[in-house]
Amino acid sequence: MNWGMKNRISRIIKPGTGHCVMLAVDHGYFQGPTTGLRNLGKTVEPLLPYADALMITRGGLRNWIPPESGIPVILRVSGGQSILKELSNEVITTSIEDAIRINASAITCSVYVGSEYEKETIANLSKLVDEGEKYGIPVLAVTAVGKDMARDARYLGLASRICVETGTHIVKTYYTEDFGSVVEACGNVPVVIAGGTKIPEKEALLMAHNAISEGAAGVDMGRNIFQSDSPVGMIKAIRSVVHDRNSVDEAYGIYVKEK
Ligand code: R5P
Repeated sequence: MNWGMKNRISRIIKPGTGHCVMLAVDHGYFQGPTTGLRNLGKTVEPLLPYADALMITRGGLRNWIPPESGIPVILRVSGGQSILKELSNEVITTSIEDAIRINASAITCSVYVGSEYEKETIANLSKLVDEGEKYGIPVLAVTAVGKDMARDARYLGLASRICVETGTHIVKTYYTEDFGSVVEACGNVPVVIAGGTKIPEKEALLMAHNAISEGAAGVDMGRNIFQSDSPVGMIKAIRSVVHDRNSVDEAYGIYVKEK
């Protein structure tokens, strides 16, 4: 791995703990004004001091995030579909030149294994890995789950491993029973979990705790942070689980205190 690639990864996955808390706010690229992100800047501004990186589109950045913020950016560069159509029908929406101009620490796309446009989304990842390798920019592959797929270790292991074999530098997938087998299938590639739809705070903390215990490098969480009744409390609590290895009860106490 070249120096630039290592440097960018270390901006995201903190060398001190080997873990990371990514804040995902890229939902608008196919969901439009998602609950909590209508005014993205207002939601994200108080969370920035507690996030290790921000997963976002170039439009999200240019409209709502000051360039002076210093937050490492995981730039969403795939899209082209909406919730009204087939979700797997993605193309690459942002050039590598624009990612470099933005000073992205990583670029990201979704891979829809088992969906109608499976091949095209794997080809998108492949292209990004080729470009990322050329310029020292790591790629985070999201194992997006189509409507008919079970989110079990067998499916997520299959999808994650395909991303690894295609050359991704970080895998983002979902927590599931037997999550350790998914991590194992990814070899040396760090695995982070998405939060998914909003669940009670304590359950989200337990999910993060279990994921870290079973080998995840961190979380790339959105709705379970910004849709919480205390987004700052929740991101602080998640940090304590991910970086300080706090118990779920200790972390929940942080959330309750902040609330
Ligand atoms: C979805 O494809 C987006 O990439 C989101 O960033 C991702 O789902 C993580 O957000 P959440 O924790 O809300 O699921």
